[in-house]
Amino acid sequence: MTIWFEGGFSTLTMRIVDIIARKRDGKDLTPEEINYMVQGLTAGTVPDYQVSAWLMAVYLKGMTLEEIVALTMAMAQSGRMVDLSGIPGVKIDKHSTGGVGDTTTLVVAPIVAAAGIPVAKMSGRGLGFTGGTIDKLEAIPGFSPALEMPSFLRQIRRHHLAVISQTGDLAPADGLLYALRDVTATVESIPLIASSIMSKKIAAGADKILLDVKVGNGAFMHDLQDAVLLAQTMVNIGRVSGRETIALLTGMDEPLGCAVGNGLEVQEAIDILSGKVQGRLRDLCLMLAAYMLVMAKAENTISEGREKAIRLLDDGSALRKFVDFITAQGGNPEAVVNPALLPAAQFQREVVAARDGYIQSINTAEIGYSAVVLGAGREFKGQQIDLAAGLVMKCRVGDYVARNQPLAVLHSNRHDVLEPTSEKVVEAIAIGDRPVSPTQLILGFVDDAGLHLN
Ligand code: URA
Ligand code: CA
Repeated sequence: MTIWFEGGFSTLTMRIVDIIARKRDGKDLTPEEINYMVQGLTAGTVPDYQVSAWLMAVYLKGMTLEEIVALTMAMAQSGRMVDLSGIPGVKIDKHSTGGVGDTTTLVVAPIVAAAGIPVAKMSGRGLGFTGGTIDKLEAIPGFSPALEMPSFLRQIRRHHLAVISQTGDLAPADGLLYALRDVTATVESIPLIASSIMSKKIAAGADKILLDVKVGNGAFMHDLQDAVLLAQTMVNIGRVSGRETIALLTGMDEPLGCAVGNGLEVQEAIDILSGKVQGRLRDLCLMLAAYMLVMAKAENTISEGREKAIRLLDDGSALRKFVDFITAQGGNPEAVVNPALLPAAQFQREVVAARDGYIQSINTAEIGYSAVVLGAGREFKGQQIDLAAGLVMKCRVGDYVARNQPLAVLHSNRHDVLEPTSEKVVEAIAIGDRPVSPTQLILGFVDDAGLHLN
């Protein structure tokens, strides 16, 4: 017997097949139905084939904001909810939706912590062609991302900064759903991506969330319209769940920094913290830091926040904070001043321009994949990576290059992949006669007041 009430079923008589059917028919699910699905999935009582059918129904029919919020909270509560309330101050998390040469956390976190704002960061490893903060930090000799919760909290009180790897007990329902989405062609769904990202941020204990939504040929979202929709959905989840959320929309039509690959990206982050390198990666880090300082109410305006971030870089405070942080987690602080202590690849190869001309475009995902082939990333979960491998870009969209001028330098410990990767990189960088403008770095942002495009 089925008992209807308020548009749903009583949990006593709820059946997964009915929940799938209702979503298939385009109906809105109740929070009870969504909870029932997520709890069953986490407990292992709902088989993968039913979850998969439900995911496809969600992919095809979409979800209302109320459904997305219910799904986000059910996933967040499917495992450990980190409690940061014992740490004084506003805890702000930042999250990038994933890009290439996207090394912002290693620069932004020390700047914000140097301003006295606690940064309690849980980060992931790289997957596919995008990198992950935890892999990058492991390129520092001795560094460990495996702190127990009490040490993590102690370190944040003492240094205002700690970074640990996201463990399996944080939003486990998301891990299970993500694995099924990956093999059922249901990854590219805005309700599913938004709830996946926000459930992990909420479970990690953030009071406020700054999102960096990447747009372009090296990101999940290839066009601005989709990125705006994803950003608005996540900002709305944040508002309804009581976590103020702001989403920047930033360009990913070329690698953000010059370095792509773990040890190489750590070196670039250190160069920015040491004041040796300017450019787009630094510009975006300053902007992200500015937003975090304003969200933490340490500064009043974004331009004041940016000025403050520049001062913390220029006077060495951010670099000192980085040194304290890696030392506290077992890393060798000498690596900051002596690049020879970071992993170095046995082979380096220059990739040069085949002709004169302007850089028309860069296939950024292909650059990311090339770094993976050189050894910097994983083609399957758990794969061992080469922390020294990757590539360093020597050109940007719009640059004029002469024939035989270096476009990139490949780094690898595998000689056999240099030649094929070099061909891929040449193909990924289009050179032509037409002058081209640089790609846009910051396209706009979404906050509670709506969309603001630059
Ligand atoms: N990142 C996530 O954490 N989840 C998604 O679904 C996509 C990107
Ligand atoms: Ca589209």
